[in-house]
Amino acid sequence: METPTNPASNAAAKPRSNFNNWITAIGVVLAVGALFSFAFLVWMDFTKSGGNPYLGIFTYIVAPAFLIAGIAISFFGAWAQRRWVIKYAGVAEDKWRLDFTNPKQRFRIILFGCGTMAFILLSAFGSYQTYHYSESTAFCGQVCHAAMNPEFVTYQRSAHARVDCVQCHVGAGAEYYIKAKINGTHQLIAYTLDNYSRPIETPVKNLRPARETCEKCHWPEKFRGNVEVNFSHFLSDKKNTPYTARMLLHVNKGEGVGATGGIHWHVSSTEKVEYFAADPKRQDIPWMRVTNLKDGTARVFRTEAFKGEPPANQIRVMDCMDCHNRPAHVFPTANESVEKAMAAGTLSTKLPNIKRVAVQAMTQKEITTDAIAEKKIAEFIKAKYADPAVAAEVPGAVAEVQRIFAMSMFPERKADWRVYPNNIGHKDWPGCFRCHDDKHKTAKGETVRASDCNSCHSIISQGKAADLGTISASGLKFKHPDGELDGDLSCADCHNGGIQGK
Ligand code: HEC
Ligand code: HEC
Ligand code: HEC
Ligand code: HEC
Ligand code: HEC
Ligand code: HEC
Repeated sequence: METPTNPASNAAAKPRSNFNNWITAIGVVLAVGALFSFAFLVWMDFTKSGGNPYLGIFTYIVAPAFLIAGIAISFFGAWAQRRWVIKYAGVAEDKWRLDFTNPKQRFRIILFGCGTMAFILLSAFGSYQTYHYSESTAFCGQVCHAAMNPEFVTYQRSAHARVDCVQCHVGAGAEYYIKAKINGTHQLIAYTLDNYSRPIETPVKNLRPARETCEKCHWPEKFRGNVEVNFSHFLSDKKNTPYTARMLLHVNKGEGVGATGGIHWHVSSTEKVEYFAADPKRQDIPWMRVTNLKDGTARVFRTEAFKGEPPANQIRVMDCMDCHNRPAHVFPTANESVEKAMAAGTLSTKLPNIKRVAVQAMTQKEITTDAIAEKKIAEFIKAKYADPAVAAEVPGAVAEVQRIFAMSMFPERKADWRVYPNNIGHKDWPGCFRCHDDKHKTAKGETVRASDCNSCHSIISQGKAADLGTISASGLKFKHPDGELDGDLSCADCHNGGIQGK
């Protein structure tokens, strides 16, 4: 019990303000702290270039929310104080009053003041740290989103391993942050309850349009001409015969002036491509429309089977991600990851048939967990190479196949190339051939241009090691290693990332 004060005499000496009470004091501290953080964050927003996606959120949403809460608490304190005065004035002790003349209270006030200073400093520091942390790749890929392990692993070896998740998935501005966080909360609940989908579904709904993410770094006006790509394959024969295709992809015809022609024409500033996909993974495209943005004329291509009009809300404007849908999370096929290891020399080509054996080891049906995979892969490979002549190579091969499996296939999450198609080419998935075939026609019967083998790329050399010495400038006709191709079959009708049956 404190020294009793006489409320009546005090009130007479100096009328007490309704704002003079502890609740209001706490509210004011909160508001001042928030204001301080706000000022600090605004300063950061203006001085730090690059416009970090999360910075804006802390600055313009979180800090103001605390500011408003602080002000609301102060007014609540005043209101409560007024109620108290009306009800008890002159009857009971004026207990919430800040009184500097009372030594005990004075001590508390000083203590409170010091606490306040610490709080303000810490809140500024804290908001800075929180923002830094929540934008970090560790937060997205590991802490919060452990379910996304496959995405994180594949991301780490992509060309974008140094680009933060939020740069593509959220981008700058509050609207997409809120969308992402609402979605994130939903995912967090699913994750806690352990009922999230395995694999995580794709395509990502409401992914920010590529114009606002990719184009922040990749400037369409600066796309260059041809891009050379080397595809090193090995046949699944006894000798693991190498087979390479080296080609120039005609990405952009008009150098330095925007995509006027070539592959990047789809994102040119003069025409717009829209399409309708009949399936959720966007692999079956029966309808598309090309609009000339200058005069507004449009041409519609459709397959013969597709009648009627597609639902307007399901028509998608083609952007970067319709081809580059795996810029950060490439799930290479078993065929491809084995070939890469062989080309790099980490998987010994001395073992007869190793290409075939390795791919088969990775795609065994019994593999349902990472632990089973390790065991099954070892057993499978060892059983094939009982011959003592090659025994020395076997342990290395087992370890390497186990390693590439762990990098590209995630049985527990049911995530691998079979559920995540890559749309950039046309060998193992339909890719470009979803639209570029002879089946899509306009009402006049025109087919899609650029549907023959040399319109998107020219093969400058191909074949086994010795053939690669000769380079053709004009482009070669593709020599399929398994012999002449049946024109009615598409590559992905046979190639599926595993081993091709004859
Ligand atoms: C270079 C841009 C980019 C970066 C960086 C990036 N992503 Fe993605 N992410 C994408 C695209 C594009 C898709 C697939 C969109 C589609 O097919 O609809 C995707 C898809 C996903 C999916 C859905 C499953 C799938 O594989 O399709 C998850 C989960 C995901 N990303 C998580 C992450 C995490 C976690 C990080 C950071 C560790 C990250 N992403 C970094 C572009 C990116
Ligand atoms: C924050 C900047 C940034 C953003 C955003 C970004 N990229 Fe990149 N991207 C890069 C850098 C840097 C490289 C070059 C990496 C290298 O040379 O190794 C690159 C490389 C690439 C390449 C060529 C390498 C490869 O993967 O084969 C493609 C294609 C690409 N990006 C597409 C995209 C797409 C599509 C998006 C949007 C989903 C995107 N990028 C978003 C910075 C970015
Ligand atoms: C019609 C499909 C398609 C679309 C749409 C598309 N690209 Fe590409 N892009 C390609 C192909 C094919 C290549 C050649 C490289 C390859 O095959 O991996 C390529 C190459 C690139 C490269 C690498 C160039 C280099 O020098 O290595 C970048 C970066 C890139 N694209 C970014 C983008 C961005 C950003 C957009 C959206 C504005 C976009 N692309 C739209 C198909 C496409
Ligand atoms: C959603 C459908 C669609 C997809 C997917 C698609 N394209 Fe196209 N592409 C078109 C249409 C439509 C045209 C214009 C056809 C016409 O006007 O006759 C076109 C035109 C082209 C052209 C000619 C551009 C020029 O110089 O005039 C090239 C080259 C091309 N595409 C390459 C590709 C490549 C490579 C891919 C895969 C990475 C691809 N396309 C995927 C629809 C598509
Ligand atoms: C619409 C454009 C387009 C057309 C038409 C096209 N291709 Fe391609 N092709 C591509 C693209 C894009 C890639 C590169 C994919 C990548 O970067 O992974 C590719 C890759 C390839 C490869 C290398 C694949 C690998 O993994 O070794 C071969 C071989 C090939 N094409 C042959 C052909 C043949 C044969 C035809 C004619 C039947 C043809 N292409 C028609 C766009 C096209
Ligand atoms: C009738 C089925 C069939 C069709 C269609 C087909 N292939 Fe093949 N392809 C095979 C077989 C079988 C092999 C030999 C596989 C081996 O030795 O591992 C092969 C081997 C290859 C290889 C080298 C080895 C490998 O596994 O990658 C390439 C590259 C290739 N095909 C590209 C293509 C392209 C591009 C197309 C489409 C233009 C195509 N194929 C269409 C059946 C087919």
